Amino acid sequence: MLKKQIIMFGAPGAGKGTQAKILAGKLNVPHISTGDILRNAVAQKTELGLKAKEIMEKGELVPDEIMVGIVKNVLFSDSCKEGYILDGFPRTLNQAKLLDEIIEQLNNGYPVIIKLLVDDEVIIQRLSMRRVCKVCGTIVNLNQIENPNKCPNCGAENSFVKRDDDKEEVIRRRLRVYHETTQPVLEYYKNKTEIIVVDGAQPVDNVTENILKKLDHSAG
Ligand code: AP5
Repeated sequence: MLKKQIIMFGAPGAGKGTQAKILAGKLNVPHISTGDILRNAVAQKTELGLKAKEIMEKGELVPDEIMVGIVKNVLFSDSCKEGYILDGFPRTLNQAKLLDEIIEQLNNGYPVIIKLLVDDEVIIQRLSMRRVCKVCGTIVNLNQIENPNKCPNCGAENSFVKRDDDKEEVIRRRLRVYHETTQPVLEYYKNKTEIIVVDGAQPVDNVTENILKKLDHSAG
C-alpha cells in the first residue's frame, strides 16, 4: 500500500501545492497547506491573519509556535486519521523537532519526504506567471494554459489573482529564507525517513507520475 503520510519539501514555487493537490485526490487524504491556511486567515482578517500579513508580504517566516499550533490542530482532527499531505511545513529545524513530538503522539506512522528539485531561475519565472483562481483555488501558470482569462478547472472568467508575495523582490527573499533556513531541515530527516527526490522541472503530469512510481517502489 502507498504511504499516506507525506511531507512535500522544496523551494517556493517548486510545485509543492500543485503536486500536493493531485496526490491528495489520488490518495484520498487531506492536503494541508500552511500557506493556504495563513492566506485564508489574512483574507478573513482574523487575529492570526493580522499577525501573519506583514511577515508574509516580506517573504519571511511566521513564528514557529504559531505554525506548530495550527498544524497540531489539523493533524489531530479526524480528517487526518488515514493520512495527510503536509505542504509548507516544517520549514525550520525547530518545527521539524516539534512535528516529531506530534507524530509520536499520533502514532500512525512516520511520514515520507517528497523533495521537488527546481533551479531558482526557473522558480522566479514560474512565480511571476503564477495565478490562482479566486473561485476554485486552482493554481495555474499563465504561460501554460490555453486561455489566460478563463480558469481551466471551473470555467470562471477573469478570476485569476496574483499572490501578494509573488513580486520579484519578495520571491528572491523567500528563496533566500528557503536556502538558509528550510533546506537544512532535510539533513535532519536523512537518518529518520525515506526522502524521495523528484525532478520538479518536468511537466506537471510527469512529476506526478515519477512521485507515484517512487512511492510505489518504496511501498513494495
Ligand atoms: P507557501 O504558501 O507555503 O509558499 P511557498 O512555500 O513559498 O510555496 P509556493 O506556494 O509559492 O509554491 P509551491 O511549491 O506550492 O508551487 P506551486 O504548486 O504553487 O507560504 C507562503 C508564506 O507563508 C511563507 O513565505 C511564510 O511567510 C508563510 N508560511 C507558510 N508556512 C510556514 C511555516 N511552516 N512556517 C513559517 N511561515 C510559513 O507552483 C508554482 C507555479 O509553478 C504555479 O504557477 C504552477 O502552475 C507552476 N508549476 C507547478 N508545477 C509545475 C511544473 N512541473 N512545470 C511548470 N510549471 C509548474
